[in-house]
Amino acid sequence: MRRVLLDAGPIVHFAGAGVLSGQDMCDVETHVSPAGCAIIVEDGKISSVIESAVADDEFQSTREETEVYSLQGSAVIPGLVDSHTHLLWAGDRSQEVRWKQAGISYADIAKRGGGIGHTVRSTRAASSEELAIDGISRMESALANGTTHLEAKSGYGLDTVTECRLIEIMDNLAHHHSLPSLDITWLGAHDVAPGMERSEYVEQILSEQLPAILEQDLARSADVFCEPGWFSCEESEDILKAARTGGLDLRIHIDEFKDGGGGELAAELKVQSADHAHYTSEESRQKMHNANVNTGFLPGTPYSQGEKNWPPFKKYLSESWNWSFASDFNPNCQTLSLPFLASVLVQRAGVDPLAALAAATCNPAQTTPHPSGDRHGVIEEGAIANLNILESETWENWCLRPGHSPFAATMLEGTMISHKK
Ligand code: NIG
Ligand code: FE
Repeated sequence: MRRVLLDAGPIVHFAGAGVLSGQDMCDVETHVSPAGCAIIVEDGKISSVIESAVADDEFQSTREETEVYSLQGSAVIPGLVDSHTHLLWAGDRSQEVRWKQAGISYADIAKRGGGIGHTVRSTRAASSEELAIDGISRMESALANGTTHLEAKSGYGLDTVTECRLIEIMDNLAHHHSLPSLDITWLGAHDVAPGMERSEYVEQILSEQLPAILEQDLARSADVFCEPGWFSCEESEDILKAARTGGLDLRIHIDEFKDGGGGELAAELKVQSADHAHYTSEESRQKMHNANVNTGFLPGTPYSQGEKNWPPFKKYLSESWNWSFASDFNPNCQTLSLPFLASVLVQRAGVDPLAALAAATCNPAQTTPHPSGDRHGVIEEGAIANLNILESETWENWCLRPGHSPFAATMLEGTMISHKK
């Protein structure tokens, strides 16, 4: 099936981009084509981007086999790639908001029976059907906000049976055609399982849980919450190295609340993405850059924790260090809207809107591959036809409407999904 999108407004395409960094992330002339183009889509992939008048003539005679849309000058951007989500969990921790406001730290909330342990208990008690229903509605919410691909972690089971069950449910969700695609990560080392000693749980991960995950063969990557009070650098290293030996790619949570040295480990292991990195030292950031490790900022976490400071986004631009940003959707940070989080970056932390867009499209696409193996996060010949049509004629509007999805429609692997009811 051929689909022709005529009369596009400006198209942010990031053609040929690979990973962008520094001032290249802000280069409008290179990455944005002016209004007046058409996008031609064949069998779920972009076959060309040409002048709209030329496309109109060319496809006049084949109208019957072609679905034609007029975009009437609306801006177009690539499908968004959310490269860090905790997609599946049950329960509700809304009562923690007052504890946070009273100044109780994340670690102390966990000690009083809240935090990850609380969600683990609710998740273990939930049926697979309940978890799948919530997963679908979360993926629909992500899609309504322009996300066409999500990385999704397990991590609220913390025993072999439930971790495998979460991954199996995610694999089922990954096969729904009208939902964003998924890249599945095993996060068995998200916290110590309730009732266990830490050393005992690490041992269980290495001897039982990881082998079961490898046997199941559905997760592509492994992740660890490497943070003082959770898993140490040594424990994280043991788990990640064993996962790599088993054939998994590596990701890591580091320095969310303090600098625990996770940046050094991320660089040493050359993981794909080291995420949060809120308190990472400049020296470790430099080492991560030298080791070609992506920093995955998660602005929703400081936002929902009421943090006063933002990570050094501008330093990343001035130093040309690789970075992306993602939602970190979890019970403590419940947004799946990258446009909302981009508005935080742009309107609160001074990040250029094109740089923010590169950090939510072409950059995370490199650490979070599409299951087809084809390119995504870009609008160029041969890439998956994942793109967003804005309600506005200006591309900058993608991040200027917090609380409202800026998109009229999303094309998901060649199928047009209207967000207008
Ligand atoms: O990335 N910090 C570790 N994991 C999540 C939060 C999990 C939770 O609070 O349930 C995160 O922020
Ligand atoms: Fe996380």
